Amino acid sequence: MKSWRAQVLVCAGAGCVSSGCAGVYNAIVEKIKEHGLSEEVRVIETGCLGSCNMGPLALVNPEGILYMKLTPADAGDIVLQHLVQGQPVERLMYKDPATGKAIAKMEDIDFFKLQQKIVLRNCGLIDPKNIDDYLERDGYKALEKVLLNMSPEEVIETLINSGLRGRGGAGFPTGLKWKFTHQAAKTPKYVVCNADEGDPGAFMDRSVIEGDPHSVLEAMAIAGYTIGANQGYVYIRAEYPLAIERLTWAIDQARERNYLGKNIFGSGFDFDINIKIGAGAFVCGEETALLASIEGKRGEPRPRPPFPAVEGLFGCPTLINNVETYANIPAIILNGADWFARFGTEKSKGTKVFALAGSIENTGLVEVPMGTPLYDLVYKIGGGLKKDKKFKAAQTGGPSGGCIPEKYINIPVDYESLAQIGAIVGSGGLIITDEDTCIVDFARFFMEFTQNESCGKCPPCRIGTKRILEILIRITQGRGKEEDLDRLRELCYNIKDTALCGLGQTAPNPVLTTLKYFEDEYLEHIRDKRCRANVCKRLTKKAGVKISN
Ligand SMILES: Cc1cc2nc3c(=O)[nH]c(=O)nc-3n(C[C@H](O)[C@H](O)[C@H](O)COP(=O)(O)O)c2cc1C
Ligand code: SF4
Ligand code: FES
Repeated sequence: MKSWRAQVLVCAGAGCVSSGCAGVYNAIVEKIKEHGLSEEVRVIETGCLGSCNMGPLALVNPEGILYMKLTPADAGDIVLQHLVQGQPVERLMYKDPATGKAIAKMEDIDFFKLQQKIVLRNCGLIDPKNIDDYLERDGYKALEKVLLNMSPEEVIETLINSGLRGRGGAGFPTGLKWKFTHQAAKTPKYVVCNADEGDPGAFMDRSVIEGDPHSVLEAMAIAGYTIGANQGYVYIRAEYPLAIERLTWAIDQARERNYLGKNIFGSGFDFDINIKIGAGAFVCGEETALLASIEGKRGEPRPRPPFPAVEGLFGCPTLINNVETYANIPAIILNGADWFARFGTEKSKGTKVFALAGSIENTGLVEVPMGTPLYDLVYKIGGGLKKDKKFKAAQTGGPSGGCIPEKYINIPVDYESLAQIGAIVGSGGLIITDEDTCIVDFARFFMEFTQNESCGKCPPCRIGTKRILEILIRITQGRGKEEDLDRLRELCYNIKDTALCGLGQTAPNPVLTTLKYFEDEYLEHIRDKRCRANVCKRLTKKAGVKISN
């Protein structure tokens, strides 16, 4: 491959696209031409670098200098001052909030310094539309290793020993799932990638596909070989057009180079992948609803067992994993199970990608070892609360997850620790709220979401979530009664116990955790007709004011 004196990597993830990165990219390309540098400086568009609120961004390698909040007008300085004269442009660098000093290198900025990138190893560093960039960073070497040197049983053993657990929410051990699907007798078998990603505020999977689509395709081919499947499907929502475009591109390129298709690496193994576009219903992320949707049926869950590993797509054994789960796998195969198991905690191995959102300074995409204290995510990586507001709660796992109050700010973020306090790691949505958030309204927001997204197949979810929502709305309007809190709890536990699928079973979590940790705020709404965050418009911020119904 051609070697370049410098590379300018312009982030073209969806976040930066919406903040105008195309204009920045075009302007830099123009300036490079003007200065006659086209043969020595390469300019590429990459996937998300992570710090989306600082976009549009450009990283200049080999120095690793990050420029942020760029406009097309900044292209001249980057090219003339940095690339021609060798003087990095200080005014476009990140400024340390404490000292105001410019920090030139990406690796020295706190947001990036504390991260450990396995899943996002290539995101922001390669051109996702160019397979050669992926190949240069060991792309498809794991597939080659597996096809030429490993038996399916050895792949399964490696995954089991690595401790990798599904990143789609439930945390089921990935190696075991592969083993069950491998052992299923019926053929044909299928490999499915769940890229539905319906949680409000979550964009981990979209970013992986936009930034490094081949890592997912490579893992799916490894899965096909391991379980004995020749066909894979990526199920992705129509709201992700950029990800769909890059995935389509990647599949075409992988076919051209024979990393997909017949007799891959001369091994005799055939595997191909197709894209199935979903209409964006949250319930279609649930695996049985997803499979029904691929089959062209209404996207409704069905009871399990039988699990998809035994009876999945078109009634055949099917392996379903999440995008992030797959993106870990080539790295595990190449570096070994022990390497992966070094990251994380005893039972939660590896890293987790989070979409940091809400009232914090640095929002975006971060990847940290499992077990990282919540404090580090909020204050060290997230830069703390905006406008020095007071931390109120962190919501992990979106509408299926729980609300973590300030007393647990140091909790290690891993499957076991969060489960102990009623929250979940979930798929990676992490919303930070401050004192201006009304916790009852917050619970109402999530319940409204799940209520809208309920497929209606089973009464506990269809009717129960509606009743919960009605009570929450009543409380936010100052019409709540104290006995409503017991009614809420009873409804929540009933729905958890009796709903058919995970949507209903987890929908009560935001209500239950806010009731557990913020009951006083519910009571203020009911007894004092007070909303301390001043969000509920029919109530007042001060106590003791009565309103008429
Ligand atoms: C309502 C609902 C929505 C879900 N949405 C997703 C999703 O968008 N992406 C995903 O990977 N898993 C989602 N899941 C979990 C999947 O059903 C399934 O467990 C997962 O895809 C398995 O992959 P993993 O083992 O790699 O996590 C959802 C589950 C439920 C109940
Ligand atoms: S729990 Fe809700 S989403 Fe799931 S099957 Fe029942 S009605 Fe549908
Ligand atoms: S989209 Fe550019 S940093 Fe996230």
